[in-house]
Amino acid sequence: MSKPVTFAICGCGDRGLDSYAPYQELHPQEMKITAGADIRPERLALLQKRYGVPPEMCFASDEELLAQPRLADVMLVSTLDRRHVANALAALDKGYHILLEKPISPDLDECRALQKKARETGRAVVVCHVLRYTRFYAALKDLLDRGAVGKVETIDAVEHVAYWHQAHSFVRGNWRRWEETSPMILQKSCHDMDILRWLAGEPCLRVQSFGSLDYFTADNAPAGAAPRCLDGCACKDGCPYDAEKIYITDPRTGIRGGGKDWPCGVVASEPDEEKLREALRTGPYGRCVFHCDNDVVDHQTVNLEFANHIHATFTMTAFTQSCHRTIKVTGALGEVEGDMADGLLRLRPFGQPEQAIDTREGAGTRSGHGGGDFGLMEHFCRLIARGGTEALTGLDASVESHVMALAAEASRLDGGRTIALADF
Ligand SMILES: NC(=O)c1ccc[n+]([C@@H]2O[C@H](COP(=O)([O-])OP(=O)(O)OC[C@H]3O[C@@H](n4cnc5c(N)ncnc54)[C@H](O)[C@@H]3O)[C@@H](O)[C@H]2O)c1
Repeated sequence: MSKPVTFAICGCGDRGLDSYAPYQELHPQEMKITAGADIRPERLALLQKRYGVPPEMCFASDEELLAQPRLADVMLVSTLDRRHVANALAALDKGYHILLEKPISPDLDECRALQKKARETGRAVVVCHVLRYTRFYAALKDLLDRGAVGKVETIDAVEHVAYWHQAHSFVRGNWRRWEETSPMILQKSCHDMDILRWLAGEPCLRVQSFGSLDYFTADNAPAGAAPRCLDGCACKDGCPYDAEKIYITDPRTGIRGGGKDWPCGVVASEPDEEKLREALRTGPYGRCVFHCDNDVVDHQTVNLEFANHIHATFTMTAFTQSCHRTIKVTGALGEVEGDMADGLLRLRPFGQPEQAIDTREGAGTRSGHGGGDFGLMEHFCRLIARGGTEALTGLDASVESHVMALAAEASRLDGGRTIALADF
């Protein structure tokens, strides 16, 4: 049996430590974490406790980790958006392969600098576009490639962000301000752009986009709304965005429903009700959604035209009950419709009975993003173990999705102007 691929985790937050690292617990023969870095000591303590990483291999910043000689085969770069490329370039210079959280960067010059360095060093650089590694999208891609709907004509995809997820990440949380991280269409939806490009099978030529931050603004604050939900807010009872509901009492998202991981685990490490209440009284996640310093959109639509005349629409909206994705593809000989929430693809060849394809069957141990997080880890560990560099989500394809997302953002900011990607 070959040795496990070793990992240094740069940024031991939700993605690094809670989403990808657990793959080691299930597959210790494939993955071993040997080092890590984070500016929060409690995250390094968890890295030691859960994965037995020795204290001398835990570093107080990305810079400290990157000042060491190479400590693993792979560096998992899971810091926040604006540090990704600097971390990855330095790690490539040290000889690491890179597993890089999306987005690569909101700056296309940085994306291209990474492409150049990846070519020069000959190392694997794989962006965590985890949706391609789900059974749901893999089965859909296979249907389209086998001609199940004939020539594809249109694709309509919707990202249902969920009202509480929007409030958590994009109003109160890390991704609320585009200048500190990325525009939401890139941060949240570069992997949707990647999926559309992958399903379409040819490059995107033109995009057009509309969208805005319409609801989570001070103008929409109801009379009597307090700056913090726990500070005697008069509107608390009727407000679905109330932080106490989202993090404590809601059975789907709150700690009383047993939810110790994301999103509660982001508000407080190893959370319990008392720790959460304290964090809501003093920290960013207890703020009224109408009194935050957010500026990213709460809904956005994009029209896309591909070289093979496929036309696609994509909608990202905060205003949904749950967090999932839906898609409908129409072709000359049939249509297929699917919802990641139930994992079902409904194929309707014209004039024939509907076939339901259950992509959850035999799925075994699941992980986040419909199994995509562990699907990516499996693919990536095997790629590195056999000395490969070209993953299902190659860096060049990932950069294409970023160009599409950034062009959509440029269009939105320019009143919905159509943008030809060749000129962008
Ligand atoms: N692939 C996906 O589907 C997906 C989903 C969500 C988020 N993301 C992306 O993953 C990245 C991480 O997101 P997250 O949710 O884990 O955020 P997070 O805040 O939980 O994790 C980031 C970690 O980096 C640490 N950090 C900050 N500065 C550092 C420094 N200088 N040196 C070392 N560590 C530092 C923070 O303390 C934190 O623990 C982001 O870029 C985000 O956009 C990807």
